[in-house]
Amino acid sequence: MYGFATRRSLLPALQQPQWNSEEALSAVRAELGERDPLASCSGHRRLQNRLTEVADGKGFVLQAGDCAEVFSDSGPDRITAKAAQLEDLAQLFESIAEIPAVRIGRLAGQYAKPRSEPMETLADGRTLPVYRGDAVNGTEPTVEGRAADPKRLLTAYEHALATLRVLDDQAGGLCPYTSHEALLLDYEEPLTRACACHGRLYASSAPYVWIGDRTRQPGGAHIAWAASIANPVGVKVGKSADHGEIAEIVDRLTAGRPAGRLSLIVRMGADAIGHQLPQLVERFGNRVIWVCDPMHGNTTKRVTGEKSRLVPAILEEIEKFVRILFAAGLRPGGLHLEVTPAAVDECVDFPSELCSPAVRFRSACDPRLNIAQAQQVVGLTAKLMAVG
Ligand code: PEP
Ligand code: CO
Repeated sequence: MYGFATRRSLLPALQQPQWNSEEALSAVRAELGERDPLASCSGHRRLQNRLTEVADGKGFVLQAGDCAEVFSDSGPDRITAKAAQLEDLAQLFESIAEIPAVRIGRLAGQYAKPRSEPMETLADGRTLPVYRGDAVNGTEPTVEGRAADPKRLLTAYEHALATLRVLDDQAGGLCPYTSHEALLLDYEEPLTRACACHGRLYASSAPYVWIGDRTRQPGGAHIAWAASIANPVGVKVGKSADHGEIAEIVDRLTAGRPAGRLSLIVRMGADAIGHQLPQLVERFGNRVIWVCDPMHGNTTKRVTGEKSRLVPAILEEIEKFVRILFAAGLRPGGLHLEVTPAAVDECVDFPSELCSPAVRFRSACDPRLNIAQAQQVVGLTAKLMAVG
């Protein structure tokens, strides 16, 4: 009935889990296909209208939240705190830049992670499959814990639904649009629905989804799926992106679509952005919204081995991003951050801090900005936008 629900893409799809049971997977896909949509088709149309305004220079996307949402961190108080942090940042941005911020949370679905290695070797010498997000497996370093269990896709749906209910109850402005990386096709395909009014397919998992840097092959299943849906979408672009590939993606995802349908979420790192971004900006101009993700190209390690990010590098990438866009006569369209309201020291303010272990590293994946760091980053971005 839903098209995508009953068939799996035959195109190559990277970063998909090796589920522990094909039979259980089929049952889970069938069940997800019967569930109510998490996001309505009017939701993504409303967001598309806002993004069309952003493309016209009349708004700025502020997209932020966890690198990886975890099921144990999705109680009502935690969700409210995350939405309140995004709202505070949006108001801070608006008060300085005097540009309306479109609030998009990495929320209610950010349960799956692409990984650079399929396996990891632990300190005790055991080799296990890596953690791929709560929608796939657990962080516990055991064979059972790391098994990719399709039933977790249903748990992810339940947690997304519970999160949306909390957000809906928080009227008074705490209502961001939700978003996540559309990584697991076994989750996205059954939740792809035909809109009752227009008949067009749309992702009912969230109003906004993005395709990660590792899964955006122009001939792959993720881009084909993104081309099939009506939602506004993002595509991450790292420093080694092939410009011809990005051109194919831009053509496929913007043909016949409104302005602002596609955001290129640039995550090149403070060192590479200066020589990689200008050519892309010149080539695609105002066909896309240009969003800066200053997190994923600036990941480093503490001497103890934990991942970290230097706030000065994050600020440097944002500053370069904004200058490159302005120099090309274009408007920077948004900022994409990993943040948490928790008192963490995952990202650091000074390089010397990389010499000692983190005292409060709580992220299930990448290092996030804490409240003060996020305010500093958004405040600087707003100032740069205000002068532009
Ligand atoms: C992310 O946004 O957490 C992520 C994995 O990003 P990227 O695809 O840019 O690596
Ligand atoms: Co991340």
